[in-house]
Amino acid sequence: MLNVHKLWLLTSLCVIVTIVLYFQSEIARLEDSYRKLEFRIAQSHTDSRQFFPKETQKDDEDLVVIYNRVPKTGSTSFVGVAYDLCKKNHFKVLHINITANMHVMSLNNQYKFAQNVTRWHDVKPALYHGHMAFLNFDRLGTTSKPIFINLIRKPLDRLVSYYYFLRHGDNFRPHLVRKKHGDKMTFDECVEKSQPDCDPDNMWLQVPFFCGHAAECWKPGSAWALQQAKHNLVNNYLVVGVTEEMLDFISVLEQVLPRLFKGATEHYLSSNKSHLRQTSSKIDPSQRTIEIIEQSNVWKMENELYEFALEHFKFVKRKILLRETNSVAQVYFYEKIRPK
Ligand SMILES: *[C@@H]1O[C@H](CO)[C@@H](O)[C@H](O)[C@H]1NC(C)=O
Ligand SMILES: *[C@@H]1O[C@H](CO)[C@@H](O)[C@H](O)[C@H]1NC(C)=O
Ligand SMILES: *[C@@H]1O[C@H](CO)[C@@H](O)[C@H](O)[C@H]1NC(C)=O
Repeated sequence: MLNVHKLWLLTSLCVIVTIVLYFQSEIARLEDSYRKLEFRIAQSHTDSRQFFPKETQKDDEDLVVIYNRVPKTGSTSFVGVAYDLCKKNHFKVLHINITANMHVMSLNNQYKFAQNVTRWHDVKPALYHGHMAFLNFDRLGTTSKPIFINLIRKPLDRLVSYYYFLRHGDNFRPHLVRKKHGDKMTFDECVEKSQPDCDPDNMWLQVPFFCGHAAECWKPGSAWALQQAKHNLVNNYLVVGVTEEMLDFISVLEQVLPRLFKGATEHYLSSNKSHLRQTSSKIDPSQRTIEIIEQSNVWKMENELYEFALEHFKFVKRKILLRETNSVAQVYFYEKIRPK
């Protein structure tokens, strides 16, 4: 009898514990959805207690973005996306055409350009693009500063692409006869014969583009130039993507600057622009060629900048696209605003 009683007691106890556990989990679930709901309400009511900065601000209408594109880094594909979006998103895209594709502006042009870009309200918001070195607006006395963005590519890939581009052109303007048209020498042969066109010093381009308008920037192998390039990349660029991850670059821009790049990711994925402008008849360099190039000091330094940029971009990207903690997008808001 006693055993039956015990069994009965044990069973009831089990049932009670199960019920309690069940309700506890239900309460936790409800509390969780309550918190989420509360959070959404807080997001939608930007009252005096909690203030979430609005998606697009008035300042966005004065937005000026400069993309000082490095040749042969996939810049035409990216600019193509901007040209496709500009009408729908109501912004202007302007190409900066500098005489003879010079990458450094004369001092008087630097000054005029800076004044013009910051004061020309009729074309704002705007994306300017052109093959010019980073221009430090702090030196030029303007009241506002534009936002800089850029793309960077593996230095040897860029050089090889440029080498064949000069010989065979690309599918973007196939009928334009390029400088070295008719030259059949491959990049491997060029390296073998130590010709000037494949001289590693020709790779010294991304470092000076990020470094800027100082003379020292353009001296192949300058350690100061590399440091300056890194400094600018982190401090004076909003975001620098890598050619190898163009889609992520566009997605990051869409998140950060929706005023210009809303819908860019979708557009890039669905359009043929992603395949635009491929250098014709490009032959990958041999292992031996790669080894020779990678021994050069200039390659090492250019590659250091590339690796530095890549790591920084991945860090930026992770926060935005992968939504680190619990796959919840990061938000911030203001609270305890006093006096009321
Ligand atoms: C820049 O302008 C020159 C002179 O008008 C022109 O020949 C050249 O094609 C232009 N460059 C580009 C990339 O459109
Ligand atoms: C900027 O330059 C363009 C082209 O020269 C000119 O049409 C425009 O009026 C200038 N804007 C300002 C504010 O100076
Ligand atoms: C884009 O690609 C699609 C399918 O590959 C093709 O039918 C279309 O003609 C292409 N559009 C352009 C503008 O090249």
